[in-house]
Amino acid sequence: MSRILITSALPYVNGVKHLGTLAGSMLPADVYARFQRARGRETLYICATDEHGTPAELAAAAAGQTVADYCAEQHRIQHDLGRAFGLSWDHFGRSSSPQNHKLTQRFAQALWEAGFIEERVTQLVYSLADKRFLPDRYVVGTCPHCGYQQARGDQCDNCTRLLDPADLIHPRSAVSGSDEIEIRDSKHLFLMQTAFEPKLREWINAKKGEWPILVTSIALKWLDEGLKDRGITRDLTWGVPVNAMDWGPNPQGQLPDVAGLADKVFYVWFDAPIEYIGATWEWADARAQEAGEGPAEDIAWERWWREPHAADVTYVEFMGKDNVPFHTVGFPSTLFGLNENRVEGEWRPASNAPWKLVDTLKGFNWLNWYGGRFSTTHQRGVFMDAALELLPPDYWRWYLTANAPESSDTAFTWEQFQAQVNADLADVLGNFVNRILKFTETRFEGVVPDGGEAGPLELKLYDDVTAQLVELTKQLEAVEFRKAAQALRALWVIGNGYLTEAAPWTAIKTDRDRAAVVVRTGLNLVALFARVSAPFIPFAAETIAEAVGEGDLHAWPQADGAAELTRLKPGRPVTTPEVLFRKVDDAQVAEWTARFGGAEAVETA
Ligand code: MF3
Ligand code: ZN
Repeated sequence: MSRILITSALPYVNGVKHLGTLAGSMLPADVYARFQRARGRETLYICATDEHGTPAELAAAAAGQTVADYCAEQHRIQHDLGRAFGLSWDHFGRSSSPQNHKLTQRFAQALWEAGFIEERVTQLVYSLADKRFLPDRYVVGTCPHCGYQQARGDQCDNCTRLLDPADLIHPRSAVSGSDEIEIRDSKHLFLMQTAFEPKLREWINAKKGEWPILVTSIALKWLDEGLKDRGITRDLTWGVPVNAMDWGPNPQGQLPDVAGLADKVFYVWFDAPIEYIGATWEWADARAQEAGEGPAEDIAWERWWREPHAADVTYVEFMGKDNVPFHTVGFPSTLFGLNENRVEGEWRPASNAPWKLVDTLKGFNWLNWYGGRFSTTHQRGVFMDAALELLPPDYWRWYLTANAPESSDTAFTWEQFQAQVNADLADVLGNFVNRILKFTETRFEGVVPDGGEAGPLELKLYDDVTAQLVELTKQLEAVEFRKAAQALRALWVIGNGYLTEAAPWTAIKTDRDRAAVVVRTGLNLVALFARVSAPFIPFAAETIAEAVGEGDLHAWPQADGAAELTRLKPGRPVTTPEVLFRKVDDAQVAEWTARFGGAEAVETA
């Protein structure tokens, strides 16, 4: 049975994330991880804060903290919020960790020695007003491709094309707004992505039909536009130092310019994806430490990432569409360069054990805030900390999973949110669980009743439940979250419909055994709902499981309605839980609309 390795795009360290980030990477990854664990597969879900780069430096300065202190604090805040949302990371690491420093430097050295990294003198943007080199994203201007006026120097948020600051029309500093900028020479390392173009194309083409069209089309569009070699170092202090002292000669026999590279760090987008591996190493070290051992053996983390040990690993990545180019071109180029050598134009496997590439890349469109974008800069939309002040995590988890922005961008509105959580969670699931448990308490002394035998209604129910279990399992395996949520909701609806039709409150007046069959079946439905709902709404699932004494919450059911609905032994005591889901009322919606703004808060472009 294959092992499952899961990563969600690493959130930038600066600041609490909004619901869009949660919906488009961390939450679906968590639902999938919980599902796979319940399936009995050895699963590792890895995430971390993405800590390097100028945004963290500037935010630390604004907060009056050292960047190291700032990042440590922000990492803790994001960790705690993720946990409060039920994110079941096996490890939530930090891209500034010693493990990631080592790996990043080691990878760069190997790429240099294999001839895939080159030194070049580049012209960089220096801001006279800010007295510093401006990293690409701190140069803003008009996108040469689509005319968007707020394009950043690294990427256009509007058309997602990757850019160079030099491409921008009317460039200016995003730090000060000043257009007093000049170009200065600086020596930098370049990853020769152009060398990998044919391999990347072949690899992406093979994923067509398997990955979302969104993902393969972004990747291919990017390849079609022509790859550029990518600068992977920056003139900054916060980051992984290049440290080229020990590097050997490249295939042309040249050593790196150690002095010229002395004050450089790696570009954040070079070291961040490497942190997927670095965080796995952190996880292994933490486990070894808990066990009272020294640092972990390499095999403890390499078994997830390197052949031949990782041959049974299926690696699934989750991310928003803006991250797709970096994960279909940037990071794979790094890994191809480590895994293979080019000898006289021919590709040969490298002598080292190869690193694993992603098997399934699940990319998401945007979750929008009404008609516009969630915005960290403008604090527009709901952020993870505020969301938890309003409602328990399961409300958000359910809504965001059921409305995952899979085939297109999706808008969050309070009205839809209210309508959906009230209908699905309160009226269907919550109501069902309450009705059947209350009735058991009042009419069957709060125990699973015995007596009677399944009749035609139950046999039909078994079939309907089997069909939806097949569908739910299939959609989760296919990382199709909307469809999976639909199948789960269909199961809840089937249970509700069964109870209404079988009407144990009527049967009990004339036929105690018939009522007993229905109640027993209903309680089995409750136990089943706890298990199939757990990946989506883990907190409520726990409460529901406790109510019926379902101990096996984390075992995914067989696609067998008859077996799954006859598990509970008669005589087992059950209890009615507190109200599972209170309805969101109109007064709350009015209050939240006033507090967070609604449609009117969205700037019209
Ligand atoms: N921090 C990036 C973002 O939020 C994502 C980094 S993903 C990884 O857009 F590749 F670096 F891991
Ligand atoms: Zn553009």
